[in-house]
Amino acid sequence: MKRSMQAAGEEVLSLLQKKRRTFLSTKEISEKLRVHPYVVYQAIKELRRWDFEILSEKGKGYRLLKIPDLILAGEVKGKLKTKILGKDVLSYRSVGSTNQLGFRLAEAGAKEGTLIVADEQTKGRGRMGRNWYSPPGLGLWMSLILRPNIPPFKAPGLSICAGLALAQTIRKLTGLDAKVKWPNDCLINGLKVGGILLELSAELDRTNFVIAGIGVNVNHLPKDFPRKLSARATSVRIEWGEEVSRVKLLTSFLRRFESVYLDFKKNGLSPQRQLIKKFSSLLGRSVTVKFGREKVEGLAQDIDDDGSLVIRTARGEKVVRAGEVTVV
Ligand code: BTN
Repeated sequence: MKRSMQAAGEEVLSLLQKKRRTFLSTKEISEKLRVHPYVVYQAIKELRRWDFEILSEKGKGYRLLKIPDLILAGEVKGKLKTKILGKDVLSYRSVGSTNQLGFRLAEAGAKEGTLIVADEQTKGRGRMGRNWYSPPGLGLWMSLILRPNIPPFKAPGLSICAGLALAQTIRKLTGLDAKVKWPNDCLINGLKVGGILLELSAELDRTNFVIAGIGVNVNHLPKDFPRKLSARATSVRIEWGEEVSRVKLLTSFLRRFESVYLDFKKNGLSPQRQLIKKFSSLLGRSVTVKFGREKVEGLAQDIDDDGSLVIRTARGEKVVRAGEVTVV
């Protein structure tokens, strides 16, 4: 795992960004930031490691030439308009899984709302023990540490809230008809553009924390998907036809999700139910839901206040809490 961008690196970057046409000497930077010149030297080294192109000339100092397309903590924080989500941001070039890292940080006491975001995941996790394909530069791979005071059985509602917020965000930014496929997929034109993976630390009646992992295929082109995914997956760019700013998508999502999340903590899922139903890709369709060895077939009829899917089967109503849905 590579280290997160250091605070000094971000401050040096901000100075270099403001003076892109001129050189800034180590002395000027260190005096402005009130740090030792060695800290400036280290910060420049760190920035270069993150692929910032920085020209250095003897006697003149440093000049920023090129900013890589990364999701940088400083940029995210500067653009965020939230109260809790993303107040602490940890941004990485490459990690195994942001969920795994988030779990460890939460165990060590990281604050509610802490955001972990990576440009690439080498061991991205999907639901049902699957892998989540997370190549560099193309997607949003992030996890949020949440500490809601809810019993664990209510947690799946959070996954639906995150899916709803994601679909709403994509719709607002692009006008595309993004939908939520219960319980946790985000679809555009029937293809998967994003997924939510909720991981819990809980006791029987108490949730210690939740890691809400959100993966969004943002700027992939068809060639960027491995063949086994290309029939089922898509990206915002493929559907919209234009490149999308990952930071914009991220900050808009966090704003939207925060409002849904705060409401969920206070009032549960019911105030969001109408919207959830409106954004659902399943209601009114014939489905098969598999969970473990069980299989339920019928008409997807409703999503209840606990976030469960209500299915009208030949033998009456069946309420399904989790599972893998296929539209038949
Ligand atoms: C799914 O199977 O649909 C859920 C995919 C969730 C992927 C995201 S990417 C960020 C976070 N870190 C992970 O390892 N997984 C989630």
